[in-house]
Amino acid sequence: MEVRRHDIVIVGGGGAGLRAAIAAGEQFPDLSIGVVSKLYPMRSHTVAAEGGAAGVIKPNDSIEQHISDVISGSDWLADQDVVEIFVNQAPRELVQLEHWGCPWSRMPDGSVAVRPFGGMKTERTWYAADKTGFHMLHTLFQTAMKYGNVVRYDENFAVQLLVHEGRCQGVAALDFRTGEVFPVVAPAVILCTGGGGRIFAFTTNAVAKTGDGMALAYRAGVPLKDMEFVQFHPTGLPDTGILITEAARGEGGILVNKDGYRYLQDYDLGKPVDVNDPEHPRKSTMELGPRDRLSQAFVKEQAKGGTIQGKFGDYVHLDLRHLGAKRIHERLPFIVELCHEYVGLDPVRDLIPVRPVVHYMMGGVHTDLDGATPLPGLYAAGECACASLNGANRLGSNSLTELLVFGARAARAAVEFGRQNSALATEALAAQAADQQRQIQERFSRRGSEPIARLRQELNEAMEVGAAIERDGEGLQQACNKVAELKARLQDLRLTDHSTTFNTELPAALELENMIDVAECVVQSALARTESRGAHQRRDFPKRDDQQFLKHSLAYRTDAEPRIEYCDVTITKWPPKERHYG
Ligand code: FUM
Repeated sequence: MEVRRHDIVIVGGGGAGLRAAIAAGEQFPDLSIGVVSKLYPMRSHTVAAEGGAAGVIKPNDSIEQHISDVISGSDWLADQDVVEIFVNQAPRELVQLEHWGCPWSRMPDGSVAVRPFGGMKTERTWYAADKTGFHMLHTLFQTAMKYGNVVRYDENFAVQLLVHEGRCQGVAALDFRTGEVFPVVAPAVILCTGGGGRIFAFTTNAVAKTGDGMALAYRAGVPLKDMEFVQFHPTGLPDTGILITEAARGEGGILVNKDGYRYLQDYDLGKPVDVNDPEHPRKSTMELGPRDRLSQAFVKEQAKGGTIQGKFGDYVHLDLRHLGAKRIHERLPFIVELCHEYVGLDPVRDLIPVRPVVHYMMGGVHTDLDGATPLPGLYAAGECACASLNGANRLGSNSLTELLVFGARAARAAVEFGRQNSALATEALAAQAADQQRQIQERFSRRGSEPIARLRQELNEAMEVGAAIERDGEGLQQACNKVAELKARLQDLRLTDHSTTFNTELPAALELENMIDVAECVVQSALARTESRGAHQRRDFPKRDDQQFLKHSLAYRTDAEPRIEYCDVTITKWPPKERHYG
Protein backbone atom coordinates (compact mmCIF):
# COMPACT_ATOMS: atom_id res chain seq x y z
CA MET A 1 0.00 0.00 0.00
CA GLU A 2 1.47 3.34 -1.06
CA VAL A 3 1.90 5.84 1.76
CA ARG A 4 1.61 9.54 0.80
CA ARG A 5 3.73 11.58 3.14
CA HIS A 6 3.48 15.32 3.77
CA ASP A 7 4.57 17.83 6.39
CA ILE A 8 0.98 18.68 7.12
CA VAL A 9 -2.37 17.21 6.08
CA ILE A 10 -5.48 19.36 5.84
CA VAL A 11 -8.83 17.62 5.60
CA GLY A 12 -11.35 19.77 3.72
CA GLY A 13 -10.82 22.13 0.79
CA GLY A 14 -13.25 24.92 1.71
CA GLY A 15 -12.46 28.35 3.11
CA ALA A 16 -10.81 27.19 6.34
CA GLY A 17 -8.80 24.45 4.61
CA LEU A 18 -7.51 26.72 1.86
CA ARG A 19 -6.68 29.52 4.31
CA ALA A 20 -4.78 26.96 6.38
CA ALA A 21 -2.91 25.72 3.30
CA ILE A 22 -1.90 29.29 2.40
CA ALA A 23 -0.75 30.05 5.96
CA ALA A 24 1.35 26.88 6.05
CA GLY A 25 2.85 27.65 2.63
CA GLU A 26 3.57 31.25 3.57
CA GLN A 27 5.48 30.15 6.61
CA PHE A 28 7.71 27.63 4.86
CA PRO A 29 7.35 27.68 1.07
CA ASP A 30 8.93 24.25 0.65
CA LEU A 31 6.60 22.60 3.13
CA SER A 32 4.68 19.69 1.63
CA ILE A 33 0.95 20.19 2.25
CA GLY A 34 -1.66 17.53 1.51
CA VAL A 35 -5.29 18.66 1.14
CA VAL A 36 -7.74 15.77 1.30
CA SER A 37 -11.25 16.78 0.24
CA LYS A 38 -14.33 14.77 -0.63
CA LEU A 39 -15.29 17.59 -3.01
CA TYR A 40 -13.46 19.73 -5.50
CA PRO A 41 -12.58 22.79 -3.43
CA MET A 42 -14.75 25.18 -5.43
CA ARG A 43 -17.76 23.03 -4.58
CA SER A 44 -17.22 23.46 -0.85
CA HIS A 45 -20.07 24.99 1.09
CA THR A 46 -18.14 28.23 1.65
CA VAL A 47 -19.20 29.07 -1.90
CA ALA A 48 -22.80 29.34 -0.72
CA ALA A 49 -22.15 32.07 1.87
CA GLU A 50 -23.92 35.21 0.81
CA GLY A 51 -24.10 38.21 3.12
CA GLY A 52 -20.54 39.01 4.19
CA ALA A 53 -17.65 38.83 6.63
CA ALA A 54 -17.34 40.94 9.79
CA GLY A 55 -14.32 43.04 10.71
CA VAL A 56 -13.90 46.51 12.22
CA ILE A 57 -12.82 49.00 9.54
CA LYS A 58 -14.86 52.22 9.83
CA PRO A 59 -14.12 55.18 12.13
CA ASN A 60 -17.55 54.89 13.78
CA ASP A 61 -16.76 51.34 14.88
CA SER A 62 -14.33 49.93 17.43
CA ILE A 63 -12.67 46.68 18.45
CA GLU A 64 -14.36 46.98 21.87
CA GLN A 65 -17.81 47.26 20.25
CA HIS A 66 -17.29 44.18 18.08
CA ILE A 67 -16.05 42.21 21.11
CA SER A 68 -19.03 43.30 23.14
CA ASP A 69 -21.50 42.38 20.35
CA VAL A 70 -20.00 38.89 19.99
CA ILE A 71 -20.01 38.21 23.73
CA SER A 72 -23.59 39.30 24.31
CA GLY A 73 -24.66 37.60 21.06
CA SER A 74 -23.14 34.37 22.41
CA ASP A 75 -25.28 34.69 25.55
CA TRP A 76 -21.98 34.81 27.47
CA LEU A 77 -20.89 31.36 26.40
CA ALA A 78 -18.04 32.58 24.18
CA ASP A 79 -14.51 32.37 25.60
CA GLN A 80 -13.55 36.01 25.89
CA ASP A 81 -9.85 35.52 25.13
CA VAL A 82 -10.84 33.81 21.87
CA VAL A 83 -13.22 36.65 21.00
CA GLU A 84 -10.50 39.26 21.58
CA ILE A 85 -8.05 37.43 19.34
CA PHE A 86 -10.67 37.00 16.65
CA VAL A 87 -11.86 40.60 16.61
CA ASN A 88 -8.31 41.99 16.62
CA GLN A 89 -7.16 39.75 13.77
CA ALA A 90 -10.33 40.05 11.66
CA PRO A 91 -9.56 43.34 9.84
CA ARG A 92 -6.05 42.16 8.91
CA GLU A 93 -7.45 38.97 7.36
CA LEU A 94 -10.05 40.87 5.33
CA VAL A 95 -7.49 43.39 4.04
CA GLN A 96 -5.20 40.46 3.21
CA LEU A 97 -7.98 38.91 1.18
CA GLU A 98 -8.40 42.20 -0.70
CA HIS A 99 -4.70 42.09 -1.57
CA TRP A 100 -5.14 38.56 -2.89
CA GLY A 101 -7.88 39.81 -5.18
CA CYS A 102 -11.21 39.54 -3.36
CA PRO A 103 -13.53 42.07 -5.01
CA TRP A 104 -15.10 43.66 -1.92
CA SER A 105 -17.96 46.03 -2.77
CA ARG A 106 -16.97 49.69 -2.47
CA MET A 107 -18.44 52.99 -1.36
CA PRO A 108 -18.65 55.79 -3.97
CA ASP A 109 -15.39 57.22 -2.53
CA GLY A 110 -13.62 53.91 -3.21
CA SER A 111 -13.39 52.75 0.39
CA VAL A 112 -14.58 49.28 1.37
CA ALA A 113 -18.35 49.11 1.83
CA VAL A 114 -19.81 47.59 5.00
CA ARG A 115 -23.44 46.76 5.77
CA PRO A 116 -25.40 46.27 9.00
CA PHE A 117 -25.89 42.65 10.12
CA GLY A 118 -27.85 40.96 12.88
CA GLY A 119 -26.77 41.56 16.46
CA MET A 120 -23.98 43.96 15.39
CA LYS A 121 -24.53 47.44 16.79
CA THR A 122 -22.94 49.14 13.80
CA GLU A 123 -22.10 48.36 10.17
CA ARG A 124 -19.05 46.15 9.98
CA THR A 125 -19.91 43.42 7.48
CA TRP A 126 -17.72 43.52 4.39
CA TYR A 127 -19.38 42.06 1.31
CA ALA A 128 -19.04 41.27 -2.36
CA ALA A 129 -22.65 41.99 -3.38
CA ASP A 130 -24.49 38.95 -2.01
CA LYS A 131 -22.01 36.35 -3.30
CA THR A 132 -19.35 36.89 -0.68
CA GLY A 133 -18.52 33.22 -0.10
CA PHE A 134 -18.16 32.62 -3.82
CA HIS A 135 -15.65 35.45 -4.19
CA MET A 136 -13.77 34.55 -1.02
CA LEU A 137 -13.45 30.91 -2.04
CA HIS A 138 -12.19 31.88 -5.52
CA THR A 139 -9.65 34.21 -3.96
CA LEU A 140 -8.41 31.57 -1.54
CA PHE A 141 -8.30 28.85 -4.17
CA GLN A 142 -6.31 30.90 -6.68
CA THR A 143 -3.93 32.06 -3.94
CA ALA A 144 -3.39 28.51 -2.68
CA MET A 145 -2.35 27.55 -6.22
CA LYS A 146 0.72 29.78 -5.83
CA TYR A 147 2.16 27.20 -3.47
CA GLY A 148 3.52 24.44 -5.63
CA ASN A 149 3.83 22.13 -2.67
CA VAL A 150 0.12 21.94 -2.07
CA VAL A 151 -0.93 18.46 -3.21
CA ARG A 152 -4.69 18.09 -3.60
CA TYR A 153 -6.52 14.82 -3.08
CA ASP A 154 -9.87 15.90 -4.49
CA GLU A 155 -12.78 13.44 -4.25
CA ASN A 156 -10.97 11.54 -1.51
CA PHE A 157 -12.90 10.96 1.68
CA ALA A 158 -11.07 10.87 5.03
CA VAL A 159 -12.51 7.81 6.79
CA GLN A 160 -10.27 7.54 9.85
CA LEU A 161 -7.68 9.48 11.78
CA LEU A 162 -4.43 7.54 12.02
CA VAL A 163 -3.33 7.71 15.63
CA HIS A 164 -0.20 6.02 16.90
CA GLU A 165 1.09 6.13 20.45
CA GLY A 166 -1.25 8.97 21.38
CA ARG A 167 -0.35 11.20 18.42
CA CYS A 168 -2.40 11.89 15.30
CA GLN A 169 -0.19 11.19 12.30
CA GLY A 170 -2.46 11.28 9.29
CA VAL A 171 -5.70 10.05 7.82
CA ALA A 172 -6.91 7.02 5.93
CA ALA A 173 -8.57 8.30 2.75
CA LEU A 174 -11.00 6.56 0.43
CA ASP A 175 -10.38 7.40 -3.22
CA PHE A 176 -13.76 7.63 -4.95
CA ARG A 177 -12.23 6.74 -8.32
CA THR A 178 -10.85 3.39 -7.21
CA GLY A 179 -12.51 2.49 -3.91
CA GLU A 180 -9.02 2.13 -2.45
CA VAL A 181 -8.27 3.29 1.09
CA PHE A 182 -4.75 4.67 1.48
CA PRO A 183 -2.77 6.47 4.19
CA VAL A 184 -1.94 10.17 3.89
CA VAL A 185 0.50 10.78 6.73
CA ALA A 186 2.02 13.86 8.35
CA PRO A 187 3.04 14.91 11.84
CA ALA A 188 0.06 17.26 12.03
CA VAL A 189 -3.49 17.08 10.70
CA ILE A 190 -6.01 19.95 10.50
CA LEU A 191 -9.71 19.19 10.20
CA CYS A 192 -11.54 21.82 8.13
CA THR A 193 -14.57 19.84 7.07
CA GLY A 194 -17.43 22.23 7.89
CA GLY A 195 -20.56 21.62 9.92
CA GLY A 196 -23.23 18.96 9.97
CA GLY A 197 -26.50 20.76 9.26
CA ARG A 198 -27.63 17.84 7.13
CA ILE A 199 -28.59 15.93 10.24
CA PHE A 200 -31.72 18.11 10.02
CA ALA A 201 -34.35 17.86 7.31
CA PHE A 202 -34.65 21.56 6.60
CA THR A 203 -31.32 23.34 6.22
CA THR A 204 -29.41 25.89 4.18
CA ASN A 205 -26.48 23.45 4.19
CA ALA A 206 -25.18 21.66 1.11
CA VAL A 207 -25.66 17.88 1.01
CA ALA A 208 -21.94 17.50 1.75
CA LYS A 209 -22.29 18.92 5.26
CA THR A 210 -22.53 15.69 7.17
CA GLY A 211 -20.29 16.39 10.16
CA ASP A 212 -17.43 14.24 8.86
CA GLY A 213 -14.54 15.91 10.69
CA MET A 214 -16.50 16.07 13.93
CA ALA A 215 -17.19 12.34 13.74
CA LEU A 216 -13.55 11.51 12.90
CA ALA A 217 -12.27 13.43 15.93
CA TYR A 218 -15.00 12.06 18.19
CA ARG A 219 -14.14 8.46 17.33
CA ALA A 220 -10.50 9.21 18.07
CA GLY A 221 -11.46 10.26 21.60
CA VAL A 222 -11.64 14.05 21.14
CA PRO A 223 -14.75 15.59 22.72
CA LEU A 224 -17.31 17.57 20.75
CA LYS A 225 -18.03 20.84 22.52
CA ASP A 226 -21.33 22.78 22.87
CA MET A 227 -23.13 20.58 20.37
CA GLU A 228 -26.59 21.49 21.69
CA PHE A 229 -26.30 24.94 20.10
CA VAL A 230 -27.67 24.73 16.57
CA GLN A 231 -28.37 27.97 14.73
CA PHE A 232 -31.64 28.50 12.90
CA HIS A 233 -31.34 31.30 10.35
CA PRO A 234 -34.59 33.29 10.33
CA THR A 235 -34.97 33.50 6.56
CA GLY A 236 -34.87 30.40 4.37
CA LEU A 237 -37.14 29.63 1.43
CA PRO A 238 -39.91 27.36 2.78
CA ASP A 239 -39.55 24.53 0.26
CA THR A 240 -35.82 24.15 -0.38
CA GLY A 241 -34.33 25.81 2.71
CA ILE A 242 -32.21 27.99 0.41
CA LEU A 243 -30.75 30.94 2.30
CA ILE A 244 -32.21 34.39 1.81
CA THR A 245 -29.31 36.34 3.20
CA GLU A 246 -29.49 38.51 6.30
CA ALA A 247 -28.01 41.15 4.01
CA ALA A 248 -31.54 41.57 2.65
CA ARG A 249 -32.50 42.87 6.11
CA GLY A 250 -29.18 44.70 6.42
CA GLU A 251 -30.15 46.62 3.29
CA GLY A 252 -33.51 47.48 4.84
CA GLY A 253 -35.81 44.49 4.25
CA ILE A 254 -38.54 43.93 6.84
CA LEU A 255 -40.38 40.87 8.17
CA VAL A 256 -44.18 40.93 8.24
CA ASN A 257 -46.80 38.45 9.40
CA LYS A 258 -49.93 37.29 7.59
CA ASP A 259 -51.54 40.71 8.17
CA GLY A 260 -48.55 42.67 6.90
CA TYR A 261 -47.66 43.63 10.49
CA ARG A 262 -44.01 43.92 11.60
CA TYR A 263 -44.46 41.33 14.32
CA LEU A 264 -40.90 41.52 15.69
CA GLN A 265 -41.86 44.69 17.59
CA ASP A 266 -43.88 42.43 19.94
CA TYR A 267 -40.85 40.36 20.95
CA ASP A 268 -38.51 42.72 22.74
CA LEU A 269 -36.45 43.42 19.65
CA GLY A 270 -36.98 47.17 19.41
CA LYS A 271 -39.47 49.43 17.71
CA PRO A 272 -39.95 49.91 13.98
CA VAL A 273 -38.43 52.85 12.15
CA ASP A 274 -40.18 54.15 9.01
CA VAL A 275 -38.88 52.08 6.09
CA ASN A 276 -38.74 55.20 3.94
CA ASP A 277 -36.12 56.67 6.26
CA PRO A 278 -32.93 55.77 4.34
CA GLU A 279 -31.17 55.22 7.65
CA HIS A 280 -33.75 52.79 8.98
CA PRO A 281 -31.65 49.60 9.01
CA ARG A 282 -29.01 51.52 10.94
CA LYS A 283 -31.49 52.97 13.40
CA SER A 284 -33.62 49.94 14.18
CA THR A 285 -32.41 46.73 15.77
CA MET A 286 -35.66 44.94 15.04
CA GLU A 287 -35.05 42.93 11.84
CA LEU A 288 -31.36 43.09 12.72
CA GLY A 289 -31.65 41.36 16.04
CA PRO A 290 -29.59 38.20 16.59
CA ARG A 291 -30.67 35.03 14.82
CA ASP A 292 -31.63 33.07 17.91
CA ARG A 293 -34.09 35.79 18.98
CA LEU A 294 -35.59 36.24 15.52
CA SER A 295 -36.14 32.52 15.02
CA GLN A 296 -37.68 32.23 18.48
CA ALA A 297 -39.98 35.18 17.67
CA PHE A 298 -41.19 33.27 14.61
CA VAL A 299 -42.17 30.30 16.78
CA LYS A 300 -44.06 32.58 19.18
CA GLU A 301 -45.79 34.35 16.32
CA GLN A 302 -46.74 30.96 14.89
CA ALA A 303 -48.27 29.97 18.24
CA LYS A 304 -50.32 33.21 18.13
CA GLY A 305 -51.61 32.32 14.67
CA GLY A 306 -49.73 35.15 12.92
CA THR A 307 -47.89 33.02 10.36
CA ILE A 308 -49.14 31.86 6.98
CA GLN A 309 -49.82 28.17 6.39
CA GLY A 310 -48.13 26.73 3.35
CA LYS A 311 -47.49 23.42 1.65
CA PHE A 312 -44.00 23.30 3.18
CA GLY A 313 -44.83 24.55 6.65
CA ASP A 314 -45.70 27.94 8.12
CA TYR A 315 -43.95 31.04 6.91
CA VAL A 316 -43.90 34.84 7.11
CA HIS A 317 -42.95 37.41 4.49
CA LEU A 318 -39.76 39.29 3.84
CA ASP A 319 -40.57 42.59 2.17
CA LEU A 320 -37.88 44.32 0.11
CA ARG A 321 -40.16 46.26 -2.20
CA HIS A 322 -39.53 49.66 -0.62
CA LEU A 323 -35.80 49.34 -1.41
CA GLY A 324 -36.51 49.85 -5.10
CA ALA A 325 -35.26 47.98 -8.15
CA LYS A 326 -31.88 49.75 -8.38
CA ARG A 327 -30.75 48.95 -4.87
CA ILE A 328 -32.10 45.40 -4.97
CA HIS A 329 -30.34 44.61 -8.24
CA GLU A 330 -27.10 46.25 -7.18
CA ARG A 331 -26.81 44.89 -3.63
CA LEU A 332 -28.83 41.67 -3.76
CA PRO A 333 -28.54 40.26 -7.29
CA PHE A 334 -28.30 36.66 -6.04
CA ILE A 335 -31.51 37.03 -4.04
CA VAL A 336 -33.25 38.23 -7.21
CA GLU A 337 -31.91 35.15 -9.02
CA LEU A 338 -32.86 32.72 -6.24
CA CYS A 339 -36.38 34.13 -5.93
CA HIS A 340 -36.86 33.95 -9.66
CA GLU A 341 -35.43 30.43 -10.08
CA TYR A 342 -36.85 28.75 -6.97
CA VAL A 343 -40.13 30.49 -6.19
CA GLY A 344 -40.96 32.23 -9.45
CA LEU A 345 -41.21 35.71 -8.01
CA ASP A 346 -39.52 39.07 -8.25
CA PRO A 347 -38.54 40.69 -4.92
CA VAL A 348 -38.81 44.12 -6.56
CA ARG A 349 -42.57 43.57 -6.79
CA ASP A 350 -43.37 40.56 -4.60
CA LEU A 351 -43.14 39.50 -0.97
CA ILE A 352 -40.71 36.64 -0.31
CA PRO A 353 -41.98 33.70 1.79
CA VAL A 354 -39.45 32.77 4.47
CA ARG A 355 -39.15 30.63 7.59
CA PRO A 356 -36.37 29.69 10.03
CA VAL A 357 -33.99 27.02 8.79
CA VAL A 358 -31.01 25.16 10.29
CA HIS A 359 -27.92 27.05 9.18
CA TYR A 360 -24.89 26.57 11.42
CA MET A 361 -23.54 24.57 14.34
CA MET A 362 -21.95 26.62 17.09
CA GLY A 363 -20.50 23.41 18.53
CA GLY A 364 -17.76 21.25 17.12
CA VAL A 365 -14.38 19.66 17.76
CA HIS A 366 -13.02 20.98 21.05
CA THR A 367 -10.00 23.19 20.35
CA ASP A 368 -7.98 25.89 22.03
CA LEU A 369 -7.42 29.30 20.47
CA ASP A 370 -4.75 27.88 18.17
CA GLY A 371 -7.02 25.16 16.86
CA ALA A 372 -5.24 22.46 18.88
CA THR A 373 -7.44 19.60 20.07
CA PRO A 374 -6.61 17.49 23.15
CA LEU A 375 -5.17 14.85 20.78
CA PRO A 376 -1.56 15.85 20.03
CA GLY A 377 -1.04 16.47 16.32
CA LEU A 378 -4.73 17.08 15.63
CA TYR A 379 -6.05 20.59 14.90
CA ALA A 380 -9.40 21.88 13.68
CA ALA A 381 -10.72 25.16 12.24
CA GLY A 382 -13.87 26.57 10.66
CA GLU A 383 -17.38 25.33 11.36
CA CYS A 384 -16.25 21.81 12.29
CA ALA A 385 -14.26 23.27 15.18
CA CYS A 386 -15.33 24.90 18.40
CA ALA A 387 -12.69 27.28 19.68
CA SER A 388 -15.59 28.88 21.59
CA LEU A 389 -15.90 32.06 19.59
CA ASN A 390 -19.65 31.80 19.08
CA GLY A 391 -20.87 30.39 22.36
CA ALA A 392 -24.61 29.77 22.36
CA ASN A 393 -25.36 31.89 19.29
CA ARG A 394 -23.18 33.08 16.41
CA LEU A 395 -23.65 36.53 14.94
CA GLY A 396 -24.16 36.55 11.19
CA SER A 397 -21.03 37.31 9.13
CA ASN A 398 -18.60 36.20 11.85
CA SER A 399 -18.16 32.73 10.39
CA LEU A 400 -16.46 33.74 7.13
CA THR A 401 -13.97 35.79 9.10
CA GLU A 402 -13.66 32.99 11.66
CA LEU A 403 -12.53 30.51 9.04
CA LEU A 404 -9.81 32.94 7.93
CA VAL A 405 -8.55 33.84 11.39
CA PHE A 406 -8.63 30.34 12.84
CA GLY A 407 -7.68 28.54 9.61
CA ALA A 408 -4.46 30.57 9.59
CA ARG A 409 -3.83 30.21 13.32
CA ALA A 410 -4.37 26.45 13.26
CA ALA A 411 -1.97 26.09 10.35
CA ARG A 412 0.79 28.05 12.07
CA ALA A 413 0.41 26.02 15.25
CA ALA A 414 0.21 22.71 13.37
CA VAL A 415 3.33 23.48 11.33
CA GLU A 416 5.23 24.29 14.51
CA PHE A 417 4.03 21.07 16.17
CA GLY A 418 5.05 19.07 13.11
CA ARG A 419 8.56 20.50 13.11
CA GLN A 420 9.03 19.39 16.68
CA ASN A 421 7.46 15.95 16.24
CA SER A 422 8.49 14.92 12.76
CA ALA A 423 8.92 11.17 13.31
CA LEU A 424 6.13 9.06 11.82
CA ALA A 425 5.31 5.40 12.46
CA THR A 426 4.73 4.84 8.75
CA GLU A 427 4.35 1.07 8.83
CA ALA A 428 1.91 1.09 11.71
CA LEU A 429 -0.10 3.85 10.02
CA ALA A 430 -0.23 1.93 6.73
CA ALA A 431 -1.43 -1.14 8.63
CA GLN A 432 -4.24 0.92 10.18
CA ALA A 433 -5.31 2.18 6.75
CA ALA A 434 -5.29 -1.38 5.38
CA ASP A 435 -7.38 -2.50 8.31
CA GLN A 436 -9.82 0.33 7.67
CA GLN A 437 -10.16 -0.81 4.05
CA ARG A 438 -10.93 -4.36 5.23
CA GLN A 439 -13.49 -3.09 7.74
CA ILE A 440 -15.27 -0.97 5.14
CA GLN A 441 -15.36 -3.86 2.69
CA GLU A 442 -16.63 -6.23 5.34
CA ARG A 443 -19.30 -3.85 6.65
CA PHE A 444 -20.67 -2.95 3.28
CA SER A 445 -20.55 -6.26 1.50
CA ARG A 446 -23.14 -7.61 3.95
CA ARG A 447 -26.62 -7.92 2.44
CA GLY A 448 -28.55 -5.89 4.99
CA SER A 449 -32.13 -4.74 4.79
CA GLU A 450 -32.00 -1.04 5.72
CA PRO A 451 -31.72 1.44 2.83
CA ILE A 452 -29.46 4.42 3.53
CA ALA A 453 -32.14 6.92 2.50
CA ARG A 454 -34.68 5.52 4.95
CA LEU A 455 -32.36 5.80 7.93
CA ARG A 456 -31.28 9.28 6.89
CA GLN A 457 -34.88 10.40 6.55
CA GLU A 458 -35.81 9.01 9.96
CA LEU A 459 -32.81 10.76 11.47
CA ASN A 460 -33.80 14.05 9.83
CA GLU A 461 -37.37 13.74 11.09
CA ALA A 462 -36.29 12.92 14.64
CA MET A 463 -33.95 15.92 14.76
CA GLU A 464 -36.48 18.27 13.22
CA VAL A 465 -39.07 17.37 15.85
CA GLY A 466 -36.91 16.74 18.93
CA ALA A 467 -34.15 19.33 18.54
CA ALA A 468 -36.18 22.20 17.11
CA ILE A 469 -35.94 25.93 17.94
CA GLU A 470 -37.87 25.20 21.14
CA ARG A 471 -37.16 21.89 22.82
CA ASP A 472 -38.14 20.05 25.98
CA GLY A 473 -36.94 17.07 27.95
CA GLU A 474 -39.56 14.69 26.64
CA GLY A 475 -38.96 15.53 22.99
CA LEU A 476 -35.20 15.39 23.42
CA GLN A 477 -35.43 12.02 25.16
CA GLN A 478 -37.48 10.68 22.25
CA ALA A 479 -34.88 12.02 19.82
CA CYS A 480 -32.11 10.35 21.86
CA ASN A 481 -33.98 7.05 21.76
CA LYS A 482 -34.54 7.34 18.04
CA VAL A 483 -30.90 8.14 17.31
CA ALA A 484 -29.79 5.16 19.44
CA GLU A 485 -32.20 2.95 17.50
CA LEU A 486 -30.82 4.22 14.18
CA LYS A 487 -27.29 3.57 15.38
CA ALA A 488 -28.21 -0.05 16.03
CA ARG A 489 -29.94 -0.34 12.67
CA LEU A 490 -26.77 0.87 10.91
CA GLN A 491 -25.45 -2.67 11.39
CA ASP A 492 -28.06 -3.87 8.92
CA LEU A 493 -27.47 -1.25 6.22
CA ARG A 494 -28.17 -2.30 2.64
CA LEU A 495 -25.87 -1.22 -0.15
CA THR A 496 -27.01 -2.20 -3.62
CA ASP A 497 -23.93 -0.94 -5.45
CA HIS A 498 -20.82 -3.02 -4.78
CA SER A 499 -18.60 -1.61 -7.49
CA THR A 500 -15.33 0.07 -6.60
CA THR A 501 -15.32 2.81 -9.24
CA PHE A 502 -17.17 5.99 -8.24
CA ASN A 503 -19.47 4.10 -5.96
CA THR A 504 -21.50 6.98 -4.57
CA GLU A 505 -23.49 4.75 -2.23
CA LEU A 506 -20.44 3.94 -0.13
CA PRO A 507 -19.64 7.55 0.86
CA ALA A 508 -23.35 8.07 1.52
CA ALA A 509 -23.23 5.17 3.99
CA LEU A 510 -20.10 6.53 5.65
CA GLU A 511 -21.68 9.99 5.84
CA LEU A 512 -24.75 8.51 7.47
CA GLU A 513 -22.58 6.95 10.18
CA ASN A 514 -20.98 10.34 10.75
CA MET A 515 -24.35 12.09 10.90
CA ILE A 516 -25.67 9.66 13.48
CA ASP A 517 -22.67 10.21 15.76
CA VAL A 518 -22.99 13.98 15.43
CA ALA A 519 -26.76 13.93 15.96
CA GLU A 520 -26.33 11.82 19.07
CA CYS A 521 -23.99 14.43 20.55
CA VAL A 522 -26.48 17.21 19.71
CA VAL A 523 -29.47 15.59 21.38
CA GLN A 524 -27.61 14.17 24.37
CA SER A 525 -25.90 17.50 25.09
CA ALA A 526 -29.24 19.30 24.69
CA LEU A 527 -30.99 16.89 27.05
CA ALA A 528 -28.31 17.42 29.68
CA ARG A 529 -28.44 21.24 29.52
CA THR A 530 -31.48 22.02 31.66
CA GLU A 531 -31.53 25.78 31.00
CA SER A 532 -32.25 28.12 28.09
CA ARG A 533 -29.37 30.02 26.53
CA GLY A 534 -28.92 31.45 23.04
CA ALA A 535 -30.06 28.99 20.41
CA HIS A 536 -30.86 26.30 23.00
CA GLN A 537 -34.36 27.10 24.29
CA ARG A 538 -35.96 24.59 26.66
CA ARG A 539 -39.70 25.03 27.20
CA ASP A 540 -39.30 23.13 30.49
CA PHE A 541 -36.32 25.26 31.65
CA PRO A 542 -37.03 28.71 30.20
CA LYS A 543 -34.38 30.65 32.17
CA ARG A 544 -30.64 30.97 31.73
CA ASP A 545 -28.92 29.35 34.70
CA ASP A 546 -25.41 30.77 35.12
CA GLN A 547 -25.00 28.99 38.46
CA GLN A 548 -25.05 25.58 36.84
CA PHE A 549 -24.54 26.13 33.15
CA LEU A 550 -22.11 28.95 32.51
CA LYS A 551 -20.11 26.01 31.14
CA HIS A 552 -19.18 24.41 27.86
CA SER A 553 -20.49 20.91 27.36
CA LEU A 554 -18.07 18.23 26.17
CA ALA A 555 -19.47 15.06 24.60
CA TYR A 556 -17.08 12.09 24.78
CA ARG A 557 -17.58 8.89 22.84
CA THR A 558 -18.24 5.72 24.82
CA ASP A 559 -19.50 2.30 23.77
CA ALA A 560 -23.00 3.43 24.75
CA GLU A 561 -24.31 7.01 24.51
CA PRO A 562 -21.86 9.93 24.81
CA ARG A 563 -20.64 10.92 28.24
CA ILE A 564 -21.33 14.61 28.85
CA GLU A 565 -18.84 16.59 30.89
CA TYR A 566 -18.43 20.34 31.33
CA CYS A 567 -15.57 22.84 31.35
CA ASP A 568 -15.36 26.49 32.32
CA VAL A 569 -16.07 29.43 30.04
CA THR A 570 -13.22 31.95 29.95
CA ILE A 571 -14.59 35.24 31.27
CA THR A 572 -12.03 38.05 31.30
CA LYS A 573 -13.47 41.59 31.30
CA TRP A 574 -17.14 41.16 30.46
CA PRO A 575 -19.14 39.59 33.32
CA PRO A 576 -22.45 37.94 32.38
CA LYS A 577 -25.47 40.23 31.99
CA GLU A 578 -28.94 39.98 30.54
CA ARG A 579 -29.09 40.41 26.79
CA HIS A 580 -31.01 43.40 25.46
CA TYR A 581 -31.87 44.34 21.91
CA GLY A 582 -34.22 47.19 21.50
O1 FUM B 1 -27.46 35.53 5.89
C1 FUM B 1 -26.31 35.33 5.56
O2 FUM B 1 -25.80 35.88 4.57
C2 FUM B 1 -25.50 34.40 6.37
C3 FUM B 1 -24.33 34.76 6.84
C4 FUM B 1 -23.67 34.00 7.91
O3 FUM B 1 -24.17 32.94 8.29
O4 FUM B 1 -22.66 34.45 8.43
